[in-house]
Amino acid sequence: MTTNDKASIMLIGIPEHLNQYQDEVKENDAFISALTELKSKQIISSKLGEIRDTACFINQNLVRIITVGLGNVKMLKEADYIKVWGNIFQYLKKQAISEIKIHIPTFYTKAVELEKIFHIMGLQREQAIYTFDSYKSDKKAPYTLHIQFEPKVDAQYEKAIDLGRKLGQSINFARDLGNMPPNILTPSYFATVVSQHFESAAVHVDIKDAETIQQEGFGLIHAVGKGSINGPRLITLEYKGNPENDAETIALVGKGITYDSGGYTIKSKTTMPSMKFDMCGAANVIGMIDAIQSLQLKVNVVAVIAAAENMIAAHAMKPDDVFTALSGETVEVPNTDAEGRLVLGDATFYANQFQPSLIIDFATLTGAAIVALGEDKAAVFNKGASSTLLNDILEQAHLADEAVFELPITETERRNIKKSDIADLTNHINGDGKALFAAAFVTHFSGKTPHLHFDIAGPATISKDTHKGPKGPTGYLIATIVRYLEKQYGKM
Ligand code: BES
Ligand code: ZN
Ligand code: ZN
Repeated sequence: MTTNDKASIMLIGIPEHLNQYQDEVKENDAFISALTELKSKQIISSKLGEIRDTACFINQNLVRIITVGLGNVKMLKEADYIKVWGNIFQYLKKQAISEIKIHIPTFYTKAVELEKIFHIMGLQREQAIYTFDSYKSDKKAPYTLHIQFEPKVDAQYEKAIDLGRKLGQSINFARDLGNMPPNILTPSYFATVVSQHFESAAVHVDIKDAETIQQEGFGLIHAVGKGSINGPRLITLEYKGNPENDAETIALVGKGITYDSGGYTIKSKTTMPSMKFDMCGAANVIGMIDAIQSLQLKVNVVAVIAAAENMIAAHAMKPDDVFTALSGETVEVPNTDAEGRLVLGDATFYANQFQPSLIIDFATLTGAAIVALGEDKAAVFNKGASSTLLNDILEQAHLADEAVFELPITETERRNIKKSDIADLTNHINGDGKALFAAAFVTHFSGKTPHLHFDIAGPATISKDTHKGPKGPTGYLIATIVRYLEKQYGKM
């Protein structure tokens, strides 16, 4: 390696055993003996993701080196690189390092394809160093980093980095939406931000205002939204990546409650704060379609976002009210805090009119999903999709390091959603299994269309910083779904 450039800092990957390096690295005796000494004195570490910042002589030149542990590289998995690159970029940003040389052969392993390593590098370069300071007076200057590869890498890998960055930017866009305060991100402003964002993209945006929602019979969205001075919006986005006549359409549906006070079934002073995040399902659907268009996936997607604010007012819905859904069915509302399933019921029924082969919805739907799985795992419910399809999605979730576990919808729940004394359906009954009940309610509105329902109430946000980024909204499942669609349908 050349080390003439005095200003350069070299980034080096450290495997558990230095003889695990590829031949081209192993043959560089001076380099290996320098690292061996640093390692034996525990100045550098091979523990997965551990960073050290030191210096060493290479070819008589003193070089500042930053090392990252790779662990036992024979056992390295794709997801391990998420930690490796996340820790690296967070460290570089913290140290305000603006230029780095990456000694790329020290990152190669036989266990993970090179292309994947570069893709994750690109993803983490965006995702891991995300910050949101739009509402801070002392904004930090944007962080810029110039990366030089030692030696140069093929265009194919530069491309993989670029694709990873695009995915990361879409995740960060979803996080921005989630972070915005609810007095600013109202349903109408949400719609405006989304239409402006896709103005010059290959995504068609249609917005239905509060009046249209009511007139066209979206009785459940209207019911939830009418208690607020900030009326509801129905946002529909269409992306056509496959013009063939028999091409499938995938429908993505998102819960966009820009604030959930609970309504007359009011939340408490401890459970209400953070309910600005009740639109993260919608934000993540926006992030998904943003990535799908920027990566030009060969698939047709329709995204339906039901945006509403669940508030209290003289004209708000109240417990015991009955409303007529877009499906024509009547729904009794004993609990106004179970508002997500109401807006999703109408949004799902509407999405089904685009004749999708599959509907997937994302929602911060129930506290019960958190009780069942903890705050770091999503629940998935399958109504009518093949187990192969669900397994393919779960495999991508695993590779993206996003935890998802399946919960059932049974005859009990299908029966329970009909237990209203006076209407066709009810949005709530007393008893356990509330996440399952909610799943049965939402998926009822997709008729015979295969439907996966993701309850992301827990992992939509995270309470501590991780190698994927800061606490707050996570963009959960954007990476999983985009990866799945890319694998399944390819690129244009
Ligand atoms: N938005 C909440 C669910 C939620 C709770 C998300 C905590 C994130 C963290 C949802 O609208 C809600 O209030 N659900 C109720 C349903 C109940 C009334 C059947 C719940 O889970 O308590
Ligand atoms: Zn609620
Ligand atoms: Zn809610």
